[in-house]
Amino acid sequence: MSSAKEPLKWFKLEGSSFTILSAEDRDRVLGEFTSMIASLKQGIILMRRERARFSYMGYEACVNMIDFHVATRNAESMPYFSARPVEVVLRPKVRRLANLLTLELENKLYARVLATYRFPAYLPEGFLYSLFNEVAEIVLIFKTVERSKAVQMVERVRKRRMTSGEVSVELQEQVAVLEGLVKSVLAGADLLELYLLLTITAGSIKELNSLEKHVKMLLKGFGLEVEAPPIQRDLYDFRTCSTLMCLEKTYTDTQSLKPLYFLVDEELHDEGGVFLGLSGAGSPVILNPWTKPNLNLVILGVTGSGKSMTAKVFLKRLRELIKDIPYVGVDPESEYIRSSRFFASTPVEIEERGELGLDPIKMLQLGFLSVSQVADMLSEIYVIPEQLQGLLRRELSLKGDRVDDVEEFVASVQDQQLYRYLQGALAEPDIYVYRGEPPALTGSAIFGLKNVRSKRLKILISALIATYAYNRLLTKSQRSVFFVDEAWLFMNTSSIVGLFENIARRGRKYGVVFMYVSQRAEDLAKSPHGRTILEQSATVFILRQEPEGRDAVKSIYKLSEAEADFLVNVPIGTGILKAGRKRITIHVMPTEDELRLFSTSIT
Ligand SMILES: Nc1ncnc2c1ncn2[C@@H]1O[C@H](COP(=O)(O)OP(=O)(O)OP(=O)(O)O)[C@@H](O)[C@H]1O
Ligand SMILES: [Mg+2]
Repeated sequence: MSSAKEPLKWFKLEGSSFTILSAEDRDRVLGEFTSMIASLKQGIILMRRERARFSYMGYEACVNMIDFHVATRNAESMPYFSARPVEVVLRPKVRRLANLLTLELENKLYARVLATYRFPAYLPEGFLYSLFNEVAEIVLIFKTVERSKAVQMVERVRKRRMTSGEVSVELQEQVAVLEGLVKSVLAGADLLELYLLLTITAGSIKELNSLEKHVKMLLKGFGLEVEAPPIQRDLYDFRTCSTLMCLEKTYTDTQSLKPLYFLVDEELHDEGGVFLGLSGAGSPVILNPWTKPNLNLVILGVTGSGKSMTAKVFLKRLRELIKDIPYVGVDPESEYIRSSRFFASTPVEIEERGELGLDPIKMLQLGFLSVSQVADMLSEIYVIPEQLQGLLRRELSLKGDRVDDVEEFVASVQDQQLYRYLQGALAEPDIYVYRGEPPALTGSAIFGLKNVRSKRLKILISALIATYAYNRLLTKSQRSVFFVDEAWLFMNTSSIVGLFENIARRGRKYGVVFMYVSQRAEDLAKSPHGRTILEQSATVFILRQEPEGRDAVKSIYKLSEAEADFLVNVPIGTGILKAGRKRITIHVMPTEDELRLFSTSIT
C-alpha cells in the first residue's frame, strides 16, 4: 500500500435492510457501496458478529450483535453508510497459534481465517448475508490498481489461466470473466485487487473443523472456494502487503463488487437499547434511538392500533435502563398521567382556569423564545391579519424587554386594531395560561390536558409547556425524552409545529428524544411541517393503517405494495419499524402487567 506509514483510520458504518428492499432501493444501497470503494481506493471493510445472551422479564434469547467498520488511510471524509469515526475496533486479540491453521483468541475461542481463492462469474447480490450465523467476521480488503498497470496484470493472469493445462468449464468461465475485465478497464473502469476473508470461531478445535467444513459446503453452493492459509496471524491482523502475496489475488472492477455487498443488518439489536418485542423473524427488537442519525421518533397508526401502548412500554422500560432520565409529556387525553409513577413523573392535570405562568413575554426575556416565534404564535392563536404582523414584531422587539408580562405588553400597544386582536390574550380562559408562577419542573412531569376543552388552548398550552420544559429541564441532562400524544391536533397550526421542530433540532445536542404519537398519518402528511417530521424522523413505528393512511405512509417511506397492504391487516401492536437504515416488522410485546396497567379500557 502506498502510504503504509500512515495509520489506518477506522469508521463505524451503519448496516441496512436489504432483502426486503424494493429493487430500486437495493440499487441505491449497492451504488453507495461501490461509490465508497471507488472513492477510498484502498481499505478494509469489516463485519463483526458477537453473540450475546438477552433476557427481559422471563423472555430469553441468544442474539447476534452485528457491526460494520471500514478502515482507510485515504479518507478525509466518509459520507457513506452514516459513517462515524472511531478510535479502535474492539476485536479479541490473538493469544497464540494453536496450530498452523488455528488461532487461539484471548476470549478463549478458537478462530480460523478462510481466504477466498475462487470467485464464480455470477454471485447473487447480498449472498454473504446468508453466512452471518456461521462466520464471526467478514473482511474485504481492496486496493485500486493504477490503470496503466491494470490491463497488463489482468492479461498476465488470463494467460496463466489459459496455459494451465486443464480446460475445465470453470476455467473457461474464469478466462471469459478476465476478458470482460480487460474490456471494462480499457473503457475506464477502476481495477481492484481484492481479498475476501471469512473468520470462523468455535469453542474447540474439533468444532472449528466441522464448522469449516460446513462453511465450505455453503460457499460451494455459491461456486466459491475458500481455504485456510498458513498465515493465520497475519490475516487476522489484516496484514496484507507482504503476506497476501502468497495468496492468489483476485481482480475485479468496482461494478462487479456489488454481489459482495454485506453491510446488511435486518435485526434491530441496538446496544444499550430497550427491548420492545419480536421481529417478523422472531428475534428480539432492541431499540436505542440515541444511536440513530436524529432523535425524532414517530408512532403512527389508526385508533386502537397500539400506539400509546408502544409509547408507554418504551418509556417504562427505558427508565428501567436509565434510572434518572427526565421525561416531559404532553398528554391531551390525560391517559399517561394515570400511569405516571411508572415513568417516575409528576402528573400535572391542567384545568382551564388554573394559573399556569407560561407567559411568552417572560420566555422571550429569558431567551427561551425569539421575537419572531412569539410573533408567529400570537398571530396564529389570535388570528392577527397579515398586514398587522409586521407591526406586532416591531412592538415585540421594542418593548419585549421593557414590559413585565404579556398583560403589560398588550396594554402598551398603541395601534387600536392590533390592540383589539391582542385583547384575546387578556380574555378568559387564555389569561390563566399566562398568569401566575410557572411550574417548578425540577424533575419529570406529564401534563394532562383532558380538562382543557378548547382545541386552540390545548395547542397553545402544549407549545408553551414544550418550550419551557425544554429550557428548564431537558437541556440540563445528556439524555431525556419529550413526548406528545395525539400530535395530529397540532399539525394545522404551523407556528406551533414550527416551534416543536425548532426545539427538536436544537435538542439533538442535549440528547432530547422527541416522540410524536399520532393517528391520521394522511393529515400529518398534508401539512408541510407534519410531512417534514414524518420524513425526517430516524425512528418510525408504523402500526395499523386504514386506506388513506396506507397511501400516505407508502409514499413517505417508499414502502412496497406488499408492505403497505400488510399494514392494513396487521393485528394490534404489530407493524413496521423503520430505524435509521433498517426496516423490520415488529410485534410490540407488553408483559401481562404492562398490558393491565397501560390498557386504555381500565379507568
Ligand atoms: N402490543 C399490544 N399487545 C396486546 N394488546 C395491545 C397492544 N397494544 C395495545 N393493546 C391493546 O389495545 C388497546 C388500545 O391500544 P392503544 O391505547 O395503545 O391504542 P392507540 O393506538 O393509542 O389508540 P388511540 O389512537 O385511540 O389513542 C390497549 O388498551 C390494549 O388493551
Ligand atoms: Mg392512544
